[in-house]
Amino acid sequence: MVQTTEGVDSVRVELGERAYSIHIGNRLLDTAALSIAEVLQGRRVMLVYDAALVSPWMKRVRRLLEEGGFMVFVHEVPMGEQSKSAAAVAAMWNALAEADFTRDSAIVALGGGVVGDLAGFAAATFLRGIAFVQIPTTLLAMVDSSVGGKTGINLSAGKNLVGSFWQPRLVLADLDCLRTLPDGERHSGMAEVIKYGVIRDAQLFAFLEEHVEHLFEAGEAVHLRAVVRRSVEIKAEVVTADEREDGLRRILNFGHTIGHAIEAEGGYGALRHGEAVGIGMVAASLLTLRRGQSPEWTDAEHARLVRLVELAQLPVRVPAGMTAAALLDRTRVDKKARNGQVRYILPVRLGEVEVVRDVTDEMVLGVLRELGAK
Ligand SMILES: NC(=O)c1ccc[n+]([C@@H]2O[C@H](COP(=O)([O-])OP(=O)(O)OC[C@H]3O[C@@H](n4cnc5c(N)ncnc54)[C@H](O)[C@@H]3O)[C@@H](O)[C@H]2O)c1
Ligand SMILES: [Zn+2]
Repeated sequence: MVQTTEGVDSVRVELGERAYSIHIGNRLLDTAALSIAEVLQGRRVMLVYDAALVSPWMKRVRRLLEEGGFMVFVHEVPMGEQSKSAAAVAAMWNALAEADFTRDSAIVALGGGVVGDLAGFAAATFLRGIAFVQIPTTLLAMVDSSVGGKTGINLSAGKNLVGSFWQPRLVLADLDCLRTLPDGERHSGMAEVIKYGVIRDAQLFAFLEEHVEHLFEAGEAVHLRAVVRRSVEIKAEVVTADEREDGLRRILNFGHTIGHAIEAEGGYGALRHGEAVGIGMVAASLLTLRRGQSPEWTDAEHARLVRLVELAQLPVRVPAGMTAAALLDRTRVDKKARNGQVRYILPVRLGEVEVVRDVTDEMVLGVLRELGAK
């Protein structure tokens, strides 16, 4: 159910002694010091932040934490994916050591998925693990990367190849932070929200059909919060059932097999992740149709998905110049392919997907060409 309620929402990620809460609402930063104090033992924190956030949010969070009795060290991370590097983690380790961080000190990450993944990995590894709090500032980070405890960095050989599962103590998703987020980043994050609708919740999908165009307008705060809350609930449900991605968690990869191929083929940075995932979801939907074994996923469902992706201002066709053969090749190196067998997550009906291994190269090539690949 997509319930619209007043106030702050809290989603609990039930992982035994590693359980934590995700608060979602407006003006959460105001009380951040209090909420963070509740989950930490020590009062020494390193505020790790995205360089783009200095004036809108970092100075404020720093002041509020200091007023709340914390000793705050700050560590700036340059904008962009290249900051998820071994060099950037080493810089953080050294900064933590220089600031005399001990086992009861903590890292507070303020930023999108890049800062969250990097700071989380530093927290997971420094002194074999210190406490970690996330304040996600992008839609993608709120609905996806801050939930579930995956942390990590990239190597030149590929994205996210080094990392660790390390759950935060608390996640504060203050929707006010999204006010300064560029449109393109908002749209990109919405791809993951649409994904949750398709894989798990037909009502969320329908709610998005009605509201997606207006979610960031003044006066829509209640709807935006409901959508973020429902997305977080779904991600939390899935990762609680399968923390280490042996089974159910794979469904979160819907739209990502072909999405990752498109993202890599464009050269990382050319297309936003969510833009590639939007096309990937449309491709997965077509694969279901061409495979012809899901009577409840018809042309009508496909048309609804295409329309919703378009309403979210995301592309639905393969970018000009990409060839189907090159993209097919890229799907094979996707790290989720095991023993050369690429698993596809395909829709069965709205709100349900299945893991399928019998998608042939011809089907993939055909679908990519239908979507404009050469
Ligand atoms: N750990 C996980 O489970 C998981 C899941 C999905 C994605 N990820 C990772 O997340 C990363 C992508 O995250 P992202 O999309 O948040 O990208 P990002 O962290 O690079 O942020 C996107 C851009 O928005 C800017 N920005 C962030 N917050 C802002 C704000 N409030 N106002 C203005 N500008 C702001 C940043 O400077 C950056 O330029 C990738 O590295 C991906 O691998 C991790
Ligand atoms: Zn994604």
